[in-house]
Parts: sequence; C-alpha cells; structure tokens
Amino acid sequence: MTFSPQLEARLEKLLRSYPEGRQRAALIPMLMYAQDEAGYISKELAQEVARRCGVTTLQVDEVVGYYTMLRARPMGRTHLQICTNISCLLVGGDKLWEQACHKLGIGHNEVTPDGAISLEEVECIGACSWAPALQTNFDFHHKVTPEKLDQLIDALRKVN
Ligand code: FES
Repeated sequence: MTFSPQLEARLEKLLRSYPEGRQRAALIPMLMYAQDEAGYISKELAQEVARRCGVTTLQVDEVVGYYTMLRARPMGRTHLQICTNISCLLVGGDKLWEQACHKLGIGHNEVTPDGAISLEEVECIGACSWAPALQTNFDFHHKVTPEKLDQLIDALRKVN
C-alpha cells in the first residue's frame, strides 16, 4: 500500500521517535494519521500498519475495534460528531442530536446516501465550557444553537 509523500514522512518520523524494538507503541498514532488520509482503516491499511509496527493484523483489528475514533468502514466526507454528554446535555446537546438526525435522515454512525455527511453521537469532546459543542472532522463548533446547527448542515451539504 502506498501513502502520500507527506504521510510517508510523518510515519517515518513517528517510528523514529520510539526506541528500537518499541515500534508497536506507534500503532495508534500511525492508525490515526493513516485514517486521516485514507478516510478509514481498510484491511489493506491495517496490514500495512501492522507490518510497519511489527504487530499482527489481528492486533490492529483489536485496536480498531476498541477505539471509537478509529473506523473500519468509510464515513462521510464530513464527519459530524455531536456531544450529548452531561455538560452539553444540560444545555440542549440531546436536542441538537435529534435535530441533526432528523435533518440528515440518518442515525448514529450512518452516512447520507450521497456519502457527504456522516453522523456520530459522542461522549465529551473536551469543550464543556463552550457547550453545547460539536465537531466537523477536526473543527470545533462551540455554543451551538439549533439555528447555527441548521446553517452548518446546509453549508456542509453545499461543499460536499
Ligand atoms: S460534555 Fe460535551 S464537550 Fe464535554
């Protein structure tokens, strides 16, 4: 499997940052970087990362199955994550979640038929002080109102 030159450089640097024989410690960041580029952890990608980190493909599968931020199937071009944990829940995060499900016509970990947007209900994303919060890919959106969410989804539909 080939990666972009930028990702190859990043992975090389990552592997060099661990002592000889400890490359398995690079497994999770390597999967995160590779997922950023590929969109999800395919079987081929899992095999490649396993080879580079000196672990088995089964061990990679176990890690991917455990951590929800790692995905074994494609998500939308924009992945919308809405926090419904306590701080967000208290100020309407659950309502935002229901609004997004209704507006997009999809549920948790589902993708719109055109592949543009996927939706995920998530635990705390570390933005409690600015609740309710959500993320689009790696962009944070704070103090989200129903109106802001409506506008955000409309804008995402236009760019995707
Ligand atoms: S509970 Fe939603 S960001 Fe912390």
